[in-house]
Amino acid sequence: MEVLKLIQERQSARGAYDSERPVAQEDLRQILEAGRWSPTAHNMQNFEIVVVDDKKLLEAIGGIRYPVSETFIRENYEQLSFSEEELLRKKVGILGTMFPLSWRTPGAKLEEPEQFNSSLGRVIQTSPVLLIVVYDPGRRAPASEGDFLGAISLGCVMENMWLMANALGIGFHVVSSLSADQVEKEVKSILDIPDHLMIAFSVRLGYPVSAGKYLRVRREVPDFTHHNRFGNRGVD
Ligand SMILES: Cc1cc2nc3c(=O)[nH]c(=O)nc-3n(C[C@H](O)[C@H](O)[C@H](O)COP(=O)(O)O)c2cc1C
Repeated sequence: MEVLKLIQERQSARGAYDSERPVAQEDLRQILEAGRWSPTAHNMQNFEIVVVDDKKLLEAIGGIRYPVSETFIRENYEQLSFSEEELLRKKVGILGTMFPLSWRTPGAKLEEPEQFNSSLGRVIQTSPVLLIVVYDPGRRAPASEGDFLGAISLGCVMENMWLMANALGIGFHVVSSLSADQVEKEVKSILDIPDHLMIAFSVRLGYPVSAGKYLRVRREVPDFTHHNRFGNRGVD
């Protein structure tokens, strides 16, 4: 039951972290140890992790300017709920209030490249640690064209480290935007990451300045299970 409780209480900590409170070396080591023992397809261990705690590098990464894509804004908007009642009813997606106003107002003019720099950029710059999880497409499992299995494996690495961090009371924020085209190129250049490797995902680690409790919803088990045959009402 302790494991289930940890899983249920694991959460994203998207707000600012205390820049004066470092993540203890031993805690960081345990988070990486949890990543180390992740299951990966064919035990290929298709990842490398760059641990960034150098203030100048964090400053540089958080300072990358890149406009948010129109596609992201449009598709993100479709997944938003505009009240807690709506989110509780839908049980899928996220609350619109997590995003800047211009992202949740159709047709609003985006403050061009400022977006990334101003909001997410600042919290990256003040994070004690940023993990850049790098994916090596050359280490794919046998006969897994497209490397779907490799992508699943990276998800296992993410979850293992996330659970460990939260068990230690350390905030964990997955940042996908550092993997996006131009941003990825710049991050790779700042951190000397070789060309043939890709940034799978990045994680901010630290101690949230404010509690940051927010409404978290999930579908019920019968909503996504099917008994024996697809379409038969699921397991209660
Ligand atoms: C593959 C993956 C990518 C994600 N990318 C982001 C991201 O870029 N920014 C972010 O704030 N959260 C990101 N998340 C976190 C999800 O939004 C979050 O897990 C989900 O909304 C449920 O909230 P919870 O983590 O608090 O339970 C990502 C999660 C996964 C698994």
